[in-house]
Amino acid sequence: MSAIKPDFDPSLPEDFDSPYQVYADLRAHCPVAHADSWGGFWALMTYEDVKRAATDAKTFITSKQNVVPKVAFTGRRPPLHLDPPEHTPYRRALNPLLTEERIARLEPVTRKFTRELLGPMLERGHGDICLEFSSYLPVQVFGQWMNMAENRLDRLHQAGRAFNIAVQSGVDDNMKETSLALYELAREIIADRRENPRDPETDPTTALLQARHEGQPLPDELIVGTVRQVLVVGMIAPMVMVGSISVHLCRDEELQQKLRAEPGLLADAIEEFLRLYTPYRGFARTAVRDVEIQGRTIPAGEPIALVYSSANRDESVFPESDKFILNRPNISEHLAFGRGPHNCPGAALGRMQLRVAFEELLGSTRRFELNGPIKPTRFPEIGAMSVPLKFEF
Ligand code: HEM
Repeated sequence: MSAIKPDFDPSLPEDFDSPYQVYADLRAHCPVAHADSWGGFWALMTYEDVKRAATDAKTFITSKQNVVPKVAFTGRRPPLHLDPPEHTPYRRALNPLLTEERIARLEPVTRKFTRELLGPMLERGHGDICLEFSSYLPVQVFGQWMNMAENRLDRLHQAGRAFNIAVQSGVDDNMKETSLALYELAREIIADRRENPRDPETDPTTALLQARHEGQPLPDELIVGTVRQVLVVGMIAPMVMVGSISVHLCRDEELQQKLRAEPGLLADAIEEFLRLYTPYRGFARTAVRDVEIQGRTIPAGEPIALVYSSANRDESVFPESDKFILNRPNISEHLAFGRGPHNCPGAALGRMQLRVAFEELLGSTRRFELNGPIKPTRFPEIGAMSVPLKFEF
């Protein structure tokens, strides 16, 4: 890594709001920033630079390092860890199972899970919306999407949570151990489906097992890697988003009441929340050659974080970018789900869960407010991971 004076220190303590100020300063004064933390990495802060790097998959590859800080290596996990064209068949297998139409079929069960999970907290009158609700809901919905047996869901929740804690604490051995537990789960699911295939149109594992690329099945270890990848990738973002949206609604009671009175506005509100509280800042690429961006040279081979959460607050694209503005004219341009070949295939699933969660939470309360300190997440996420709330009826 080149010896460069660091432009920011992502390992300093943060609160829920502080990173956004740091990122605004960087966008203004140092839009291609360098940090020494975690072995050193570059960070693209502006909308255009992040979008360009995400889209230009030939120059900016993910196969070397796909996240900052780097996660301990336990195997290649498609689709995130592969570059096109190797990446393509995995997306071709997964995408049809994640269309809006497919996801709409999961809405009734998502609502049922939402009510069941919110129930005890509402009865008590208070609770932590992340720890007691949104850390579970995505696991349950995901289990339904994957047609997972009930008895595996608890293990998935434990292992997924342990993996996230390990990633946040940055201890390699813990990351490896929890990642291997998730691999074991993935292998069991695959062994099940080999014996008892399901309909590939509704079962992601069967779809992967039956997928053909140039006439050949996908390699076994990469099918395991894909199932292992999807076991966590769709879990953390919805959890954090529910926390961040809750914080915002506690701070802006007028908006809370407006969305309660007009739940039809929620889908659009969620798009603006996704822009404002984009939960990812650490997805990474590596340039295959030296690249010059905004007058700075990033040497080939060095990790580059695409700071989606900063890009989405770029004032040149989203005026008054720190403000919640319902129905911004260009809201569909936000990068919360990434761009280019690795853009999020689970966007419809993520959106549906968030909408249902807030329809239910707002619909079953008269108001809610913060009931204790917010615990912020660290890299690679950004947002809230613990939000105590008090409910009124
Ligand atoms: C609010 C919810 C979500 C957000 C904000 C989100 C965001 C993202 C982003 C930004 C990426 C791009 C990564 C990159 O550029 O390297 C991504 C990729 C991905 N997401 Fe999501 N995601 C969400 C929910 C989900 C869900 C529910 C699933 C479940 C299937 C999912 C599955 C994936 C997968 C498999 C990838 C890797 C795609 C590839 O490499 O081709 N996501 N997500």
